[in-house]
Amino acid sequence: MIDLTGKVALVTGSSRGIGRACAVRLAEAGADVVINYVTSSREAENVAEEIAAMGRRVACVRADVGQEEDVEDMVAFVRDQFGQLDILVHNAATGGFRPLAATSQRHFDAAMHTNVLSLVHLLKAAAPMLESADGRGKVVVLSSHGTHMALPMYGLIGGSKAALAALARHWALELGDRGVNVNVVEAGLVETDSTRRLPGAAEMFAGRASKTMMGERMLEATDVADCVLFLASSLSDLVQGQTLVVDGGSAIHI
Ligand SMILES: NC(=O)c1ccc[n+]([C@@H]2O[C@H](COP(=O)([O-])OP(=O)(O)OC[C@H]3O[C@@H](n4cnc5c(N)ncnc54)[C@H](OP(=O)(O)O)[C@@H]3O)[C@@H](O)[C@H]2O)c1
Repeated sequence: MIDLTGKVALVTGSSRGIGRACAVRLAEAGADVVINYVTSSREAENVAEEIAAMGRRVACVRADVGQEEDVEDMVAFVRDQFGQLDILVHNAATGGFRPLAATSQRHFDAAMHTNVLSLVHLLKAAAPMLESADGRGKVVVLSSHGTHMALPMYGLIGGSKAALAALARHWALELGDRGVNVNVVEAGLVETDSTRRLPGAAEMFAGRASKTMMGERMLEATDVADCVLFLASSLSDLVQGQTLVVDGGSAIHI
C-alpha cells in the first residue's frame, strides 16, 4: 500500500484529463495537492473540491508553465503556503495536431515553451524543495510514443516530447545525487479533451482494441495515474532516469 501522507505534490495541467487523474490518485494515497491550470479555472476548482472532500489540503494555481515568471510565482506559492514540495508531476502540454509542413514559428515556440522549457523553469525553481524532501524528492514527466514513433499530425508534439524525455534524463543526472528521482511515464492513447480533437480520433479509438493485449479494456487516465503514483512513491527510489511505458502492450508489435 502506497502511503503519501505528509507529502505535498504539484501536478501541472491538472484541471483536466491525465493530470486531473494524477492529482486525484496522489490525493487518494494521502498527499496534499497543488492543482495547476492555465485557462480552466472552473474545472480546476472541481478537482480541488473532490480532493478537499478526501480531507487533504489542496490549492489551485493559475500559471502558464511555459513562462518562467509564472512558474517562479507558483513555486513560491507552494513554499509559502505548504512549506515543502515532495512530488512534481510535469503533465501540462500543448501543441495542436497539424502536419509539420503547416507548422509556424509560433506553433513551434508554444509547444517547446509549454512542453519542454517548462521542465527547466520548474526544476530550477523547485529543486531546492525537492532536494530537502523527507525521503527522496520525486519528479514524474508525462510523455508519449511520439518520442520514438511517427504518428499522423503529431510531429511537433512528438518532437517536443523527445526533447522532454532527454531533458528528464539529464535532470536525473544533475539531481540524482542530491536526493531527487526524475522518471518518465510514456502513455499510450487515452481518450481526453486533447485526443478527441485528433484528426481521425474515432478510428484511432476504435482501433485500440486490436493493438493492446487487454481485450476490451481500454487505457484510461487512471491507469496512467497508477504508474505516476508508483514513480512518486518510495517503492521506486532505485528507479532513476527511466521511462515506464503504460499502453497495454500496443507499442511492442506492428
Ligand atoms: N491523452 C493521451 O492519449 C496521451 C498519451 C500520451 C501522453 N499524454 C500526455 O499526458 C499529458 C496530459 O494529456 P491530456 O490528454 O490529459 O491533455 P489535456 O486533456 O489537453 O489537458 C491538458 C492540461 O494541461 C494544461 N495546460 C495546457 N497548457 C498549459 C500551460 N501552458 N500551463 C499550464 N497548464 C497548461 C491544461 O490546462 P487548462 O485546462 O487550463 O487548459 C490541462 O489541464 C500531456 O503531457 C500529454 O502529452 C497524453
